Order: sequence, then C-alpha cells, then structure tokens
Amino acid sequence: MIQIGDKQFEEYLTPDQIQSYVQSLAAQIDRDYAGKDLLILGILNGSFLFVADLAKYMTSDPEISFLKFASYDGTSSTGNVKDLIGINEDLADKHILIVEDIVDSGTTLAHIMGLLESKGAASIQTATLFFKPEAYKQDIELRYIGKEIPNLFVVGYGMDYLSKGRNLTGLYQLKP
Ligand code: IMP
Ligand code: MG
Repeated sequence: MIQIGDKQFEEYLTPDQIQSYVQSLAAQIDRDYAGKDLLILGILNGSFLFVADLAKYMTSDPEISFLKFASYDGTSSTGNVKDLIGINEDLADKHILIVEDIVDSGTTLAHIMGLLESKGAASIQTATLFFKPEAYKQDIELRYIGKEIPNLFVVGYGMDYLSKGRNLTGLYQLKP
C-alpha cells in the first residue's frame, strides 16, 4: 500500500509484469513496421517511461518525438483537452505511431487524431500500454494495447495523482 496526498493505492502490476507487456509491444511494432519509416509520437507527460522502455526494447530505428496535452484534473477526465506542445515534425509520408500511457475516455486520442488527420502521413496508428475499455467513449481503433485494466484510477509508470507517483516502477490502483 502507498499513500499519495489524500489517497491510498495498492500495487496492481509489478515492474516485471509491466516490462513484459512493453517488451511484447516492442516486438509486435518491430515486426509490423519492418522496412517502413516509423515516427513514434509519445504523448507527454504520462508516456515518458513507456516510450523510453519501448524504444530500448525495439531493434528497429524509429524517429521519436513527443506531444503534450492535458485533459486530467485530479482523478477524473475533464473532457477538455489543452494543447501544450504541438506538432513540429514534417509528417508527410511517414508512418505515425501515437504512443499513450493509458487510454481512458479517449478524448485526448480523438483530439490528437484531429490534429494529425490533414498532415499527409502514410498511416496513423495508436499504441497504449493500458486501456480502460469501460471508460472508452470513442470508436478509434487501438492497434496495440499492452493490457486492459478495470475502470479505476491508477498511478505509477508515468502516470500521476496530483503530479506525484510518475516514477513508481509498478502500477498502483486507487483503493475503492
Ligand atoms: P482520456 O483523454 O480520458 O482518454 O485520458 C487520457 C489521459 O489521461 C492519459 O494519457 C493519461 O495521461 C490520463 N489518465 C487517464 N487515466 C488515468 C489514470 O487512471 N491515472 C492517471 N492518469 C490517467
Ligand atoms: Mg497521457
């Protein structure tokens, strides 16, 4: 059990379990993008550890960049996405892989898709380490999913509660 601010969290996935999901996603992505120009677009802040580990497990040579948005306030999605760092890369004819730590309502993802749509990319797919199917309100396909999790707030491995907990190497679930 850990305490962050006013809330208590229990370990839900160990660091080893998380690494095995990341490794398996890296292998799938390497295989599917073999011989293609891949640009990984990590979504900050939450994806910083996932992108770092994913990139280390990959044997191919992708371009890696980041975008920054915010839609969370405390423990619930606001449904309102703010752009903080936009797209600076030339996306024309590139294969884009959006990399998210977690997809909850899908509002952030829908917003990103809207921004990327008209940039002439060769393809746009999404990889998320964690997915809460019960919370998802979009019909955008999630091509790579590390693990589906229950609709409970989590912290660790990049994800925060009130800006803390991102450096935890396991994943922790809010105690109901
Ligand atoms: P969405 O727009 O509702 O899909 O939320 C997406 C973003 O909110 C994710 O990229 C995370 O950064 C953050 N988020 C969603 N669920 C959680 C959670 O359980 N803990 C911490 N952050 C979360
Ligand atoms: Mg995120």
